[in-house]
Amino acid sequence: MKIRNSLLAYRWIIVVGMLLMTVAVRAPVRADNAGMMTPAPLATTDGGEIYHGLCQGCHMADAMGAHGAGKYPALAKDPALTSSTYVAITILAGRSNMPAFGVKHGAGAMFFSPTALGYEQIAAVANYVRTHFGNHYTDRIKAADVAALDKTI
Ligand code: HEC
Repeated sequence: MKIRNSLLAYRWIIVVGMLLMTVAVRAPVRADNAGMMTPAPLATTDGGEIYHGLCQGCHMADAMGAHGAGKYPALAKDPALTSSTYVAITILAGRSNMPAFGVKHGAGAMFFSPTALGYEQIAAVANYVRTHFGNHYTDRIKAADVAALDKTI
């Protein structure tokens, strides 16, 4: 009886130990992947929050871009942003080394794929980058426009 009890206790220690290890291993992975790699859907439809949560990891907080291990273009004063269609398609389907954020294009499908953005969120962040960081485009793209574009690509 005594041996049985201590065996049970031993088993518990292993179970608890394994649980703790899972937490210890998972925690840093989650911290590193916060934002751009977490497939959990983003609740906000605020363009600024989406930019600073998902895009600034590559394009930087001031949208000046970065050069280093990769080349991330500046969105600040970027003439390519003249076309809201170009911006929306880039976010939906990705471009060269930029990942896609549209569900149809694989975003959110796997743990390591980027967070999927809905059409309203894509419109919001497109409008945000086109009206911030020295960009002053006054026309706005709507969720319905993004949805229509997604059918064509
Ligand atoms: C993992 C890094 C990464 C993330 C995250 C990212 N981008 Fe990009 N983005 C890039 C790269 C790399 C390019 C350049 C692609 C190319 O070579 O054409 C780019 C290009 C762009 C362009 C085209 C710029 C131009 O001058 O042609 C826009 C617009 C853009 N990104 C917007 C966004 C927005 C908005 C988000 C957030 C929803 C975002 N990006 C998230 C890496 C990223």
